[in-house]
Amino acid sequence: MTFRRNLAVLAGSAALALAAALPALAQPIVIKFSHVVAPDTPKGKGAAKFEELAERYTDGAVDVEVYPNSQLYKDKEELEALQLGAVQMLAPSLAKFGPLGVQDFEVFDLPYIFKGYDALHTVTRGEVGRMLFSKLEDKGIKGLAYWDNGFKVMSANSPIATPDDFLGLKMRIQSSKVLEAQMNALGAVPQVMAFSEVYQALQTGVVDGTENPPSNMFTQKMHEVQKHATVSNHGYLGYAVIVNKQFWDGLPEDVRAGLEKALDEATDYANSIAKEENDAALQAMKDAGTTEFHELSPEELAAWEEALAPVHEDMAGRIGAETIAAVKAAAAGH
Ligand code: LMR
Repeated sequence: MTFRRNLAVLAGSAALALAAALPALAQPIVIKFSHVVAPDTPKGKGAAKFEELAERYTDGAVDVEVYPNSQLYKDKEELEALQLGAVQMLAPSLAKFGPLGVQDFEVFDLPYIFKGYDALHTVTRGEVGRMLFSKLEDKGIKGLAYWDNGFKVMSANSPIATPDDFLGLKMRIQSSKVLEAQMNALGAVPQVMAFSEVYQALQTGVVDGTENPPSNMFTQKMHEVQKHATVSNHGYLGYAVIVNKQFWDGLPEDVRAGLEKALDEATDYANSIAKEENDAALQAMKDAGTTEFHELSPEELAAWEEALAPVHEDMAGRIGAETIAAVKAAAAGH
């Protein structure tokens, strides 16, 4: 009797212990991946691809939750949230690292620094890209990959074919001093604003214009509130996929390996669709007919390049002359 009762008690407590342990065992590691653009963009699609592959390659040990469209955090807040561990993964544009104290990334904002995606990739896929990521480590952040968006168009409610046309226009920019200098060089009045607020600011006239790759302009419907745009390709917009370093380093090795494989493939995917997504968005906006798109003539392009050239020298002190030289050397060697 006593033996039986003991057995029953034992069995009962074993079942209880198992019940307590089970949910813990079954609980996946959650990666909250927050971003500010629409799902239907190069970054949005890259994030969705990562979610799918990460869950597959870790056999469900990881649950990736993607929060697009500034649903969770706006530009500046999301970086703070990453450092605090409230989210684990982000892909901010390279123009948004200045406020964090890592100004070198603003090199990517220099006007006309990259002749195209190939030149850019020799930077992001090489030693210089790794060197830039190393600068994030003492901020508690680990850089894992570079994702492309594309080359920017300028938009406004008045024609902006030549640098003179920018005089006095209030232009929304990302939080980059290089972009501020760029707008100043054109005689415009730059205004830093979170991405989530741009559409309304354009609609209500708080700002006159902005710059973005076509994919962002189209998916935020900015073309509905901008009468003119110039396909100037004057600057690049791309992303650093980053994680909270402590979280990443603390992952079981096999889980991290699965995530690295997923990210490698998601990176190839995101970068392979970026150009076609932007080309399609530009075409869709032209078809919509609400914005008149201007292509620069060779003379106009020369005038833009001349007006913007001083930004490189003016910003050397901020970005670091060595970083600029390293990026230019890599880009020239493609
Ligand atoms: C912007 O703020 O214009 C962009 O950085 C948005 C984005 O993430 O593409």
